Amino acid sequence: MSFLLNLLTRLTVVSAASATAPAAGSASMTDADDTGGGFHVLMRIIRMALEYKMFIAVGLVLIVGASIFQLFIPLLIGSGVETVEEIFNSENPDIDALRWTLVTTAGMLLGSAVLRGLFTYGHMYISENLAQRLGYRLRMLYYEKLQRLSFAYHDRVHTGDLLTRGLLDIEGVRAFASRGMLRVLYLAIFVGTGTFLMMREDWQLALISLSFVPIAAWRSVVARLQTSQGWRRYQEEMGQLTKIMDENLKGIRVVRSFSAEPYELVKYDKSSNEAFNRAYQLVTVRATNLSYITLAFFGAMSLVLLVGGLKVLDESDPFSLGQLAQFLAFMSIMQNPVRQLGMVVAGWARGATSGKRLFEVLDQVPEIDDKPGAKDLVITGGVLRFEHIDFAYMDQFGDEQVLTDVTFEARPGHTIGIVGPPGSGKSTLAHLIPRFYDPIAGRILIDDQDISEVTLASLRRAVGVVEQDTFLFTTTIDNNVAYGDPWAEHRTIESATSNAQMGEYVERLPSGYGTLIGERGVSLSGGQRQRLSIARSIMLHPQIIVFDDSTAAIDAATEQRIRAALQEVTADRATIIISHRLSSLMHANEILFLEGGKIVERGSHAELLEQGGKYRDLYELQIRPEDDNVQSGGEV
Ligand SMILES: Nc1ncnc2c1ncn2[C@@H]1O[C@H](COP(=O)(O)OP(=O)(O)OP(=O)(O)O)[C@@H](O)[C@H]1O
Ligand SMILES: [Mg+2]
Repeated sequence: MSFLLNLLTRLTVVSAASATAPAAGSASMTDADDTGGGFHVLMRIIRMALEYKMFIAVGLVLIVGASIFQLFIPLLIGSGVETVEEIFNSENPDIDALRWTLVTTAGMLLGSAVLRGLFTYGHMYISENLAQRLGYRLRMLYYEKLQRLSFAYHDRVHTGDLLTRGLLDIEGVRAFASRGMLRVLYLAIFVGTGTFLMMREDWQLALISLSFVPIAAWRSVVARLQTSQGWRRYQEEMGQLTKIMDENLKGIRVVRSFSAEPYELVKYDKSSNEAFNRAYQLVTVRATNLSYITLAFFGAMSLVLLVGGLKVLDESDPFSLGQLAQFLAFMSIMQNPVRQLGMVVAGWARGATSGKRLFEVLDQVPEIDDKPGAKDLVITGGVLRFEHIDFAYMDQFGDEQVLTDVTFEARPGHTIGIVGPPGSGKSTLAHLIPRFYDPIAGRILIDDQDISEVTLASLRRAVGVVEQDTFLFTTTIDNNVAYGDPWAEHRTIESATSNAQMGEYVERLPSGYGTLIGERGVSLSGGQRQRLSIARSIMLHPQIIVFDDSTAAIDAATEQRIRAALQEVTADRATIIISHRLSSLMHANEILFLEGGKIVERGSHAELLEQGGKYRDLYELQIRPEDDNVQSGGEV
């Protein structure tokens, strides 16, 4: 038995290595932890499964029971035929005894079959239950990990890759637990004991009977490994098809307006054809191997009939007809388990590959996390200070510095405006405040507490960032606005929405705040989405609030109304406004002009105009021609 396990392990390691090779190319997980080879991965999964002790113990008892009752069947057939043979060969055959033998044998056969069925049902149920629990636990661990991994990690690793790991790879591990763990013990016990019983009867005939086993086992393992890799590719190809269709539907306006339908059709046809060929090839592999196995089995059976029959006829050989019947019955019940070996080995291979990919993510240590013993941020005044901040994204394109020596202070009641050309680092600067990324040099302080020393939860409660790219969930409007505080009162949601100048619109909708947004609900315009996103952030009354180009899709008049409404709410808070539109931030107490990650000009609007630098140039470009309007529009 240990030989069998060893062999399985070796096959698994070899096949897992070959299965990982193509996958590694597509995965962009560059800094995967060393999760060990296939064997260690499987041991780790088994150790996790062993924590469900009760399931394992009951499963083992059921496996032994199922094996015993299944092995009973050929023994019963053998002894039945033997008894019938003896009665026939006697001088005066007792027909009643013959009937009795037939009835008892049939009854016991039925009883064994029923018991074997019950035990098998039990162990499959237990295996599946255990596997589902393990799958559930891994899913939750994985999802929880995704919530905690830092942005830098999410930048590096492709979302599609993370999705595949979270769905298909967890499924691979679950399938291994369900079909590869307890099942292998069942196969080992069953095939081992069956072989022993046959050998005990007649070792030569046993060898002939079992001659089909290596061929069947080998072919089924090869077929499974070939097909399971193929199925994986097939799945990837189907994934590709889904992606093409999804993009086509989402970008339907672009496709139609560029008359790109024929191009899209060709693209889809190419991928569809690849999937077709793959599936066809897989069926061929399976059919060929099935023929080999069937041929080997019936070949061995004919030999057993011939050699066994000759032995029965040989007067000097005590080999009986009952024994021959027993051998044939053994062969037929061993056929299925031997074929299952392929499934088990493929399950091990997939378990090892999937487990490795899963543990790579689970073992990641979030780069940004609470320091041990971190305390909650205590807001005393609400002063935010950047001290000589340098920052670089460490990604595959290198570590070019994005921010250099950025220093400023945002005080409660004050507004800092940040302006600068695209790519100058404005959003990056905003993302450092809630610690989406950590600077490489310098400190960021809130009320003299270094933000890297306080808990992330308390920091993110104190800081609200209205993102440049709005993201809304496909749920109701009130759920979206109250995302940061699901227990918020309706009044609070309403007032935040009205401050963001969306209240009137929402109230006019037939279902009001209960209206669904997204594919199944109303489609909002860009400006409306931005306003909901503003409402979502201001509802939490953060001490420091950052608007990252969050009024770009909103007209100047509405923006002005939003600002007027917010003035009351943000009177004692620090506000940072990032915008390309000078009219959005001209009123700020201090304006920073960012270029290439450096603050190249700073001061109030009047001071910057006075300086006559880049800010002034921008002003000339944007506002000058409309200066009169701005003046007459009052405070901007
Ligand atoms: N997640 C990221 N990973 C790597 N590089 C990034 C990432 N985000 C931004 N960058 C790079 O950092 C630089 C600054 O980007 P940032 O988004 O901060 O500019 P921005 O000033 O907000 O521009 P815009 O006005 O277009 O919003 C750019 O060169 C950009 O390519
Ligand atoms: Mg930006």
